[in-house]
Amino acid sequence: MNSPVLTPPDPRTLRNAFGSFATGVTIVTTSGPAGSDIGLTANSFSSVSLDPPMVLWSLARTSANLDAFRNGTHFAVHILSADQEALSSRFASKIADRFEGVAIERGPAGIPLLPDCMARFACKVAYQYEGGDHVIFVGEILDFSHSARKPLVFHGGRYGMLLPKQGNASAQPVDELSNLSADDLLYQVSNAYFRTRQAVINELEHHGWTSEEYAVLSIIGREDGLCVPEIVARSEKVRGQAISTAIVQKLIGLGLLHKVDSADGEARVRLTTEGRLAVMKLIAIRKSSEADVQGNLDPSEVQLLKHLLARLEHPAHAVTSN
Ligand SMILES: Cc1cc2nc3c(=O)[nH]c(=O)nc-3n(C[C@H](O)[C@H](O)[C@H](O)COP(=O)(O)O)c2cc1C
Repeated sequence: MNSPVLTPPDPRTLRNAFGSFATGVTIVTTSGPAGSDIGLTANSFSSVSLDPPMVLWSLARTSANLDAFRNGTHFAVHILSADQEALSSRFASKIADRFEGVAIERGPAGIPLLPDCMARFACKVAYQYEGGDHVIFVGEILDFSHSARKPLVFHGGRYGMLLPKQGNASAQPVDELSNLSADDLLYQVSNAYFRTRQAVINELEHHGWTSEEYAVLSIIGREDGLCVPEIVARSEKVRGQAISTAIVQKLIGLGLLHKVDSADGEARVRLTTEGRLAVMKLIAIRKSSEADVQGNLDPSEVQLLKHLLARLEHPAHAVTSN
């Protein structure tokens, strides 16, 4: 039986269809003529065999490094972690020397190895196959390593991060009568808000500051020269509760703020030199509490959390960055 022949598809449509397959991101390296270091970003990597241990990847025939890989005896595949997006972009770009400033080690036959990747496979070329406009390289693994990092993901032409799906274990009702569930979004957001906020308040109190004083100083630290009603309005927005104007007076009395007349007749509140120092100390306190609050979240999870919180804060806002 003759199989139906697909009319040549539009390359962009086909590329989009391929892009619907989420992959990791790798950098494949080898040695070129006269021992030069060669490397490029590739997501065509696949594991092939456990025994013997083998992997494959494919290289576009248009690659400037086609001959180096075709003639090379070894290559190394580096699986990138979520914080290595810049490295991926660098090794996909046309800059003259992709290795400049990158600390490398040496593998079999002197091939360059990149440190701090999620996993690394140093391979001896076992087979090469023609694959249309690509060449497929199969390598036998000579050496490998891996670490418990989070992977960089590529999907639909964009970088992403992996968000493991949660099981239903946490969805047990907290209280049968109220039918509240521990994975209720509002319940989680408000719990997280109070827990993280309390951590900062405890630290501030430990240093002799009240949360109202902190609120006023950080508002003025961000926007020096607001008038008192503006400070009150900002405090209501960030705390859900307006601060009393007496706090502003108290901070003026302590020499941390001062009032300056303005053209519109409304006095503006500004930081004094001492006030600036106090704001810097408060920032240091907040930063150290922030590190505690982040607990065991890794940098990519913190980035994801910020991204999601920004979307919650501005639901109508289409957030396009990763
Ligand atoms: C995420 C990502 C994955 C890529 N995967 C491949 C791939 O599997 N094979 C390939 O030949 N090019 C791939 N590329 C494109 C090359 O990295 C890019 O064309 C590079 O400039 C080629 O460099 P060269 O001509 O020096 O080999 C990928 C690019 C990106 C950003």
